[in-house]
Formats: sequence, C-alpha cells, structure tokens
Amino acid sequence: MSLHLGDIAPNFKATTSLGEIDFYEYLGNSWGVLFSHPADYTPVCTTELGRTAALKDEFAKRNVKVLALSVDPVDKHISWINDINETQHCTVDFPIIADDDKKVSNLYDFLHPNASATATVRSLVIIGPDKAVKLIITYPASTGRNFVEVLRVIDSLQLTAKYSVATPVNWTEGEKVIVVPSISTEDAIKKFPKGVEVIKPYLRYTPQPNID
Ligand code: BEZ
Repeated sequence: MSLHLGDIAPNFKATTSLGEIDFYEYLGNSWGVLFSHPADYTPVCTTELGRTAALKDEFAKRNVKVLALSVDPVDKHISWINDINETQHCTVDFPIIADDDKKVSNLYDFLHPNASATATVRSLVIIGPDKAVKLIITYPASTGRNFVEVLRVIDSLQLTAKYSVATPVNWTEGEKVIVVPSISTEDAIKKFPKGVEVIKPYLRYTPQPNID
C-alpha cells in the first residue's frame, strides 16, 4: 500500500521491544514519528537509534512520541539495544517494532523491493495529533538521517498548525516566517501584531509568532 501526505496513518497492533502496543493508543493525542531501518546490528542504524534516544527531551518538549521498526524479531531488538546504549552513550527507551511478518512495513510502504528484497528502507513518517501523515522521507540504507532536521520539520509543522505560517528555505528556530497565501495581507496585519513585511503580494514575512 502506498502512503501519501494527508492520508490517515493506519492503526496497527504490534510486538515491540517494550511489549505489545496499539499504535493509536501509544500516540494518544501526541504527534508521532514512526521510522524504519534496514536491520538490527548494523552501523548506521545503531547511530540513528542512539541519536533518537539522546534527543528524548527534544521530542518530549514538542509532544512527540517516537517508534522505530525493522523486520528483525523482538529478542534481537532487545539484545541490540544493549549495544546501542553502550556505544552511543544513551538509553533507548522508545519502542522498536519487531515486524517479522512485515505487516506494518506493508501498511506504511517501508519495503522497496528494488532497494532490498528483504529489509525495510530508511523511511520516516511524521503523524499529527489528527493522525494525518504530515511528512514522509525515504533515505538509502547507506545514509543516516539527520534527526536535527526531523526536529526542525516538526517545529515548522507545529507553527503551521498553530499560527497559519509557513517556514522559508533553511529556516531555523527564531528566524522570520512566511504568512500563508490563504491569509490576506489585511487579515495578516491583524493576526500578526509583530508586523508583516510585504515583499510581494504573495511573499510576506512576519517574526516567528511564538517567541518574544
Ligand atoms: C547500516 O544500517 O549501517 C547499513 C545498512 C545497509 C547498508 C549499509 C549500511
């Protein structure tokens, strides 16, 4: 099944390194990051899961629950976590799905047969509190993802959800943001008291609304 932005993320029950979970129950009203990796006991994946664990407070601050997945069995996940904790100096305390039957991988389009006949690709899906898919990225097995970029996208998505602003190229926290096209300049001036800079009728900036 292919998954697209705006689709409702399918619910599932799965065995994980932390026991059985129902995905929607696990997410509750939080944002979610579900990410697949090719296999346990592989170097790039070890660093990715370690970095995700190290960013625990950053995800919590943004009300995001994370969940990893590979098609390896749960006993392998549990023993690999010891290695991740040891080598990456972290504590992996988020669940890793043991998708031996590939049920979740098929639901989320994590298997790309021309990349690998057996292993999941390096995909990552961000899910909003409304359970809609907000972002999908897929990297090759040999390239580790940038989890600081994942946090940046979450910040952008949360600004859009709360303030109807978009974020420009290479935006980072604290920089000016863009008034979305659906808001007229007249309404934008009322909505954004810090000011609206009109470069073109379609290109309007305002200071990031949630910081002083
Ligand atoms: C890794 O996760 O380290 C990896 C997996 C497949 C190919 C290359 C690297």
